[in-house]
This record gives sequence, structure tokens and C-alpha cells, in this order.
Amino acid sequence: MSYLSDFHEAINNPEKYWQKQAKKIHWFTFPETILSKDKQGHYHWFEGGKLNTCYLALDQHVLNGRGDQPALIYDSPVTNNKRSFTYNDLLEKVSLFSGVLADLGIEKGDRVVIYMPMVPEAVIAMLASARLGAIHSVVFGGFAANELAIRIDDAKPKVIVSSTCGIEFTTVIPYKPLLDAAIATAKHKPDHTIILKRPQEDCTLIAGRDHDWKDCMSQASPHDVIPVASTDPLYILYTSGTTGKPKGIVRDNGGHAVSLNFSMEAIYDVSPGDVYWAASDVGWVVGHSYIVYAPLIRGCTTILFEGKPVRTPDPGAFWRVIEEYNVKTFFTAPTAFRAIKKEDPDGKFIEQYNLLGLESVFLAGERLDPPTYEWLAGLLDCPVIDHWWQTETGWPICSNMLGTELKEIKMGSATVPVPGFDVQILNKNGQKVRSAETGSIVIKLPLPPGCLPTLWNDNERYQTSYLSTFPGYYLTGDGGYKDKDGYVFVMGRTDDVINVAGHRLSTGEMEELIGGHEAVAECAVVGIADELKGQVPAGFVVLKDGYRLGNEDLAPELIMIIRSNIGAVANFKQVAIVKRLPKTRSGKILRKSIRTLADRGQTAIPSTIDDPSILDEIKDVLQDQQIGMAFIK
Ligand code: COA
Ligand code: AMP
Repeated sequence: MSYLSDFHEAINNPEKYWQKQAKKIHWFTFPETILSKDKQGHYHWFEGGKLNTCYLALDQHVLNGRGDQPALIYDSPVTNNKRSFTYNDLLEKVSLFSGVLADLGIEKGDRVVIYMPMVPEAVIAMLASARLGAIHSVVFGGFAANELAIRIDDAKPKVIVSSTCGIEFTTVIPYKPLLDAAIATAKHKPDHTIILKRPQEDCTLIAGRDHDWKDCMSQASPHDVIPVASTDPLYILYTSGTTGKPKGIVRDNGGHAVSLNFSMEAIYDVSPGDVYWAASDVGWVVGHSYIVYAPLIRGCTTILFEGKPVRTPDPGAFWRVIEEYNVKTFFTAPTAFRAIKKEDPDGKFIEQYNLLGLESVFLAGERLDPPTYEWLAGLLDCPVIDHWWQTETGWPICSNMLGTELKEIKMGSATVPVPGFDVQILNKNGQKVRSAETGSIVIKLPLPPGCLPTLWNDNERYQTSYLSTFPGYYLTGDGGYKDKDGYVFVMGRTDDVINVAGHRLSTGEMEELIGGHEAVAECAVVGIADELKGQVPAGFVVLKDGYRLGNEDLAPELIMIIRSNIGAVANFKQVAIVKRLPKTRSGKILRKSIRTLADRGQTAIPSTIDDPSILDEIKDVLQDQQIGMAFIK
């Protein structure tokens, strides 16, 4: 593959390019059309095609003689447990669990919510749902009951698959009370739940509704694959938008399989039989694409790691796993390496392991900051590659591609657009900017296969969120620039989305929750820089008349509102009670000025500001409470 010729072919003749890629996967019926447009002007890939994603991930490999190869290795330092599943084993378990779901009434198109920790049964449930042509929606285990309830009401699952607990370092987090609370809150009630009982935590099952995973499996018969249309949804994955209602990103079957298979060849350069490890969580898009679907569709061995980069048991955890399973390609978020670097700055742990088999390390979820890149590249003998993508795209938009000639690495850049992504930088008026000038990062339509065709039950929001701002372009929500060589530098979000320790969260949602407190007149939540987690949220709250300024009890109360509604994962720990918020003359809160003050200690005074003296008041509060990198002593 040559980068430039592939890139140009994919842009100039997308149908021919993606037809070629589509031929590399197994279809029950090859698509009649490669790219089509519906009445609303939305693009669809591979219409008329019939396939099954679970068949691609499992059955085809068993039929092709790969049955005895490890498909999934489960390594759980938090439970001292390791298990390996061959393709034969995984197919057997998935077929059986498909039988369980079918016995509970799941048919093609029905939704199955999966709220599970990093255990093999989570992967089995995803694949079993895909096998039946059902639509799974995995909810990250770190979300609180309220977030789960919101997703239940939107996806309306017939069945929810869950577990009795997750384990965070040494803390057992009971899931069943959260699940029960979510079902009690949600308007939609699932017909059934299936609960995996873990030795660390038991639970009470509600007769008639809750079923024990083990009992179900012992009574079920295996179920065969159900062919689905290329354009049928495989899953819904909710991600943070700018409001309290998360966006249900829809992934289709055909475009997803073709794009992931392509990415394994072109971006990661992995072949069947290679060991591929994405240290993420099945609740995030990286987990969907690169723990579960892409490695299995490609015939690789994938690793499911129920641990952390540090303290499980030490900062050598990643290196231990890489050596133990001879990992060829490793993928994680920069924040994970910052956590390791903090505990092992000189890389003493890495020296204890043989990493000769490791050929590349990929990072995503947030920008790979230059200090972390330099530290990592100095310790490793292989390329360290920053690549940029989103839940919406499902696979990388920009990357240094190992399947082509490796490009020079420029720190702070995710390198160049992957074939299929026509990345442009536009100014406010929708005009292309000159190189090195910052603007909105957009992608010219059509998006390549694998990217979201719509939002679940909300075509209108899909249109307004992504397609209306600049007609003919998909709005990524990120800002940045391209340099003279076409390298893309993604500098951060232009909306209310923040990235906290590689987790995407909405400050708008946090503002809605805090604004609901009886004492709060108005508030702003901004993502401020954090050395370890990249960003963390900080709240700035104006009280209603009659509530005492400096009320000591209020901050913990507001912190608890976010923790119990969104989850601990929000990392909402800093609240400042302020007299006023800086605003424009038209009344818009100047969140960016607050953020810049917290990060840098000073900010330019916007020409639109109503009263510049408010910025001094905010600065004093930041200083007093030591909020923000500029004020931490
Ligand atoms: N279930 C329940 N709680 C969870 C959770 C889960 N799956 N994940 C995180 N939490 C909790 C944590 O226990 C913590 O709770 P606490 O406030 O009571 O201590 C809180 O949410 C914040 O978690 P986090 O921000 O992850 O901080 P941490 O100190 O626990 O771990 C890192 C820090 C850097 C080690 C961790 O964030 C990490 O590994 N990040 C990488 C993320 C990633 O892989 N993202 C995917 C993109 S590639
Ligand atoms: P998510 O949907 O959770 O994958 O988060 C997507 C967002 O994370 C993007 O819109 C970016 O803001 C950010 N992001 C992901 N990868 C990168 C990267 N390599 N460089 C810069 N930002 C990134």
C-alpha cells in the first residue's frame, strides 16, 4: 500500500476503493451498491449486502482451521485470574449464550443492554447479540444508576446482561444495586436480566425477572448465526454530547466490518495469528472496536485486561502482560502512561521485561502530549503513534499508518488523514483556512464506511449536531490546524465535551445537574488542565439570594450530585462559589476565559465581555482554593 495513492483513490473514487476493501471480508450476499444516498441526503455503505459480524469474528476462523488458536486471553490481576479461550471455545460459549438470549425472546433488531465489568462474559454477550442480529448497547461500568437509566429509556432493551460487581484496584463495586435502581428509575422496563455471579459479590435475584448466567447457560442450546443487512445496526454506543442526553451512536454491520478489517491491515499492520492488545474498557468505543471486533474479525488473539496501568500490582503491569503474551501491537490512552510515568519515572519496571515482540504502541482518547511521547519513545524500541478518532467514527481519522511507509513523527500531531477521511479546517464562515491556521476540524462527506449513519431514534439530532453547521461536511467538534505538510494537529474540543483520563464527559450535563440544586442561581462547569488526567471538571457556582456565600456544606453536596448521577468517573471534585460569572454583553458565560485563567493564571480580556472586573474576582477564588494548574502550590 502506498499512502498517497490510496488516500487519493479513496477520496476520488470511494466506490471503487471500498468495493476492493469489501471483498476482503466474507459476505453471505455481496452488496448490490457500494455507496448510496437516502432521501434525506444521508450516505449508506454496502446496501443489499448480507453478513453477520459474529460469523466474521468467530465462525469463519473455526471453518478456516484457526479453531485451536487463542482468540481471547483474559488477564485479571484484580482477581488473580487468567483464562485463555480458543476460537473453538469462544464460538461454543457465544453460540450457547445466543441460545440463552433467543430463549428469552431476543430476535433480530431487539436491543440488549450490557452493563458489565471487564470479564469474558461481556465479550460473549456482545458477540451473542451480534449473532442473532440483535443490537447491543454496552454501558460503561463506571457510570452511576441514573446514566444507566437514561440509556435504558432510550434503547428500550428487552434484556439486560449484568454482573454482581466490578473491581477497581482492590475495591469491589456492587453492580446489582445500581442495576435495580436504574430499572426502578427508568420508564422502560426490560423483560429480563441475566446476572453473572462473581465470587467477590453475591446478590438477590428477583424471581421471574432476573436469571443466573450459569443456570441459563446450563439449560440452553447453541444458536446459529442470523444473516443481517449491511445497513442493520450492530450496536448503539452512547457518548457525551453537549446536553444531559447522551447521543446514541449507531454502528452498522457492513461498514463496521469492512473498516475495521481495513484498519488492522492499513493502520496497525497486524495479520491473523498476531497478538493485539487494547488496554481500554469494553464500555468505550476503543473497547468495542479494538478489544472485541477488529482483532477477532482479523483472526488475531485479543487480550481482555481487568486491571490498571498502576497498582495492579505495580507500574510494570502493562510490560508484564506484553511480555507474557508476546503482544505485537499495544494500544492505550496517554493518561495511562502518565500514571505509569508518575510512579516509575525512570522506567525501572520496563527493564524487568523482555519486550522484543512489541512492534508498535498506539495512543488515542486525547492528544499525546509531547512530554509523555518523549518519555515513552525514549524507553521503547518501536514506533509510538498518536492517532485521533471518536466514538462517532469507530476507527481512526488520522494516523501514522504502519501498513504504508511510516511517516516522520511530529510531536503533538496525529499525523495525516487515513484514506477515506477528507479532513479540512474551516473558519467560522465555512471557508478553508490557510495551513497552520486554527479552525474547526471537519470531514468532507461522505464519511468512509464504519462511521455513524445516524443517532438512535434521532435522525434530526444527527443532522443538527453533525451536518448542519457546515453543509457538505461532518463536524468533528474538535478544533485544530494542518501544517504545510498536511499533518493534523487536534488541539481540543470546541464544544462542552471534555476528556477526563481518556473518558469523554459532558460539562453541559454537569451544569444541568448542578443547576438543579435549590441553592444554585447559575453555574459553569469547565474542563481545566490536569497533569495526570489531561482534564478535570471544575464547577463555578453563583448562589441564589438568601443562600450564604461561602456555605461550606454546599460544595460536597454538589460533588455528590455529580458522583451519584454520573459516577465517580466524572472526577468532579472542585467547586468554587463565586459572586458572579464572566459574561458577554449578550449574557453568554465566558467559559473559555475561566478555563484559561485556571490553566495559565491569566487571560486576554475578550472584547465582548460585559464587566472585566469579574475575571479578577474569579482569579482570586482560584488562587484561594488552589484550583487550576496555575494556582496549585
Ligand atoms: N467502574 C466503577 N468505578 C470506576 C470505573 C469502573 N469501570 N472506572 C473508574 N471508576 C472510578 C474510580 O474507581 C475512581 O473512583 P474514586 O473517585 O472513588 O477513586 C473514579 O472512577 C475516577 O477514575 P479514574 O479517573 O479512572 O482514576 P483512577 O485514579 O481510578 O485511575 C488511570 C487513573 C489513569 C489509571 C485510569 O483512568 C486509566 O487507566 N485510564 C485509561 C482510560 C482508558 O483506557 N480509556 C479508554 C480510551 S483508549
Ligand atoms: P471518544 O468519543 O470518547 O473517543 O472521544 C473523542 C474525542 O477525544 C475527540 O473528539 C478528541 O477530542 C479526543 N481525542 C481522541 N483521540 C485524540 C488524539 N489522538 N488527539 C487529540 N484528541 C483526541
